[in-house]
Amino acid sequence: MQKLSIQGGNQLRGEVRISGAKNAALPIMCASLLTPETLRLTNLPDLHDVGTMRKLLQQMGVSADSVPGEVTFKGDKVDNWEAPYDMVKTMRAAILVLGPLVARFGDARVSLPGGCAIGSRPVDLHIKGLQAMGAEITIEHGYIHAKAKRLKGARIFFDIVSVTGTENLMMAAVLADGVTLLENAAREPEVVDLADCLRSMGAKISGDGSDTITITGVEKLHGATHRIMPDRIESGTFLVAAAATGGCITLRETRADILETVLEKLGEAGAKIRVEGDSIHLEMNRRPKSVNVRTAPHPAFPTDMQAQFMALNCIAEGSAMVVETIFENRFMHVQELRRLGAHIDVEGNTSVVRGVDHLEGATVMATDLRASACLVIAGLVAQGETVIDRIYHLDRGYERIESKLSELGANICRVK
Ligand code: EPZ
Repeated sequence: MQKLSIQGGNQLRGEVRISGAKNAALPIMCASLLTPETLRLTNLPDLHDVGTMRKLLQQMGVSADSVPGEVTFKGDKVDNWEAPYDMVKTMRAAILVLGPLVARFGDARVSLPGGCAIGSRPVDLHIKGLQAMGAEITIEHGYIHAKAKRLKGARIFFDIVSVTGTENLMMAAVLADGVTLLENAAREPEVVDLADCLRSMGAKISGDGSDTITITGVEKLHGATHRIMPDRIESGTFLVAAAATGGCITLRETRADILETVLEKLGEAGAKIRVEGDSIHLEMNRRPKSVNVRTAPHPAFPTDMQAQFMALNCIAEGSAMVVETIFENRFMHVQELRRLGAHIDVEGNTSVVRGVDHLEGATVMATDLRASACLVIAGLVAQGETVIDRIYHLDRGYERIESKLSELGANICRVK
């Protein structure tokens, strides 16, 4: 089991290049199932989850030729329409092959993803939407089996805003017969990036980025080349780390328009932020001020940045409320932060963080991807050594995080 060891106290200074977005790459890789032609993806991040998704597609028969940061997929020999449990259990995003498989082949067997650390995370909305489009779905022995001669356009209303639910049904609809309306759809930038990629393949989609998306089905899609958008959560994570350490950093190859609420909160905390093209510059020359955070679907504050801001609030001036409205169990980092000396009270989906003037290094355990990032930020500011265990969670969503942080001056290394 690998660990990270961090000696706290260094300010982060310098420049860092932001990688392609994990949560755009995963659905867009599944779009390769929608055409027999080649789909060339550039700016793909080198992440564990991207590797898992590539292996899943390959075992279905999609060819995938990769050079660093780029993969060319070709779905002309797809002959296995199944996503097995042993792959789905390690990466829930595997559910995103369901829509494309039913759309192109009329048949799919996808293991029900189990729950995960942050919540039960059902996929009932994915299933309900496919049924509305005429798919016959049976669930037995832990597998979703979906069949359809040809999906039909339908009007689908999401009771709850679901990012991958919106993405799965968008991909199902692009080859359906007729028009599909996705209402109360997710507005995340990664949904728009998927729509951009599908349009470059010949799909007819409009309204992505709003809560109503219209898809007019076409007979078939052709190949394309698509550059994956920058990762807004990686961007936000580095900005919070720089703010927490009182540093001064510049993010390269990112976008500020997809991070507005995060930049606003960092400004409230006292950071000086400047945006220039695809760069974001942050300078923090004071102790952060506590900021209240309430997560909600985009364009509100992203749940994937909640844990990182919790870490910032731990050492900020004053007290703050952190409210998690998306997932039912996304405060597992609280216990670990308390081990470092944080003062946090939790009541249901609300945490109250009282800032302390310093944290003390300790051994802590990562429980999920963004909780791990939160513990890295806490370790960067804690006095002495912090050792973070189970960092495989971190590797799922951050490319070379310890080398990027070392290049910014952090005293961090990976230990066996
Ligand atoms: C996506 O997960 C992201 N993952 C998550 O990022 C992110 O936290 C989440 O969206 C919310 O923004 C990917 O894009 C691969 P949801 P997703 O469906 O799509 C409930 C990370 O750290 N729901 O938007 O699985 C669900 O339980 C990960 O990168 C249903 O009830 O999330 C949750 O409470 C973590 N039924 C809420 O909706 C369904 O059928 C939002 O979930 C689907 C979802």
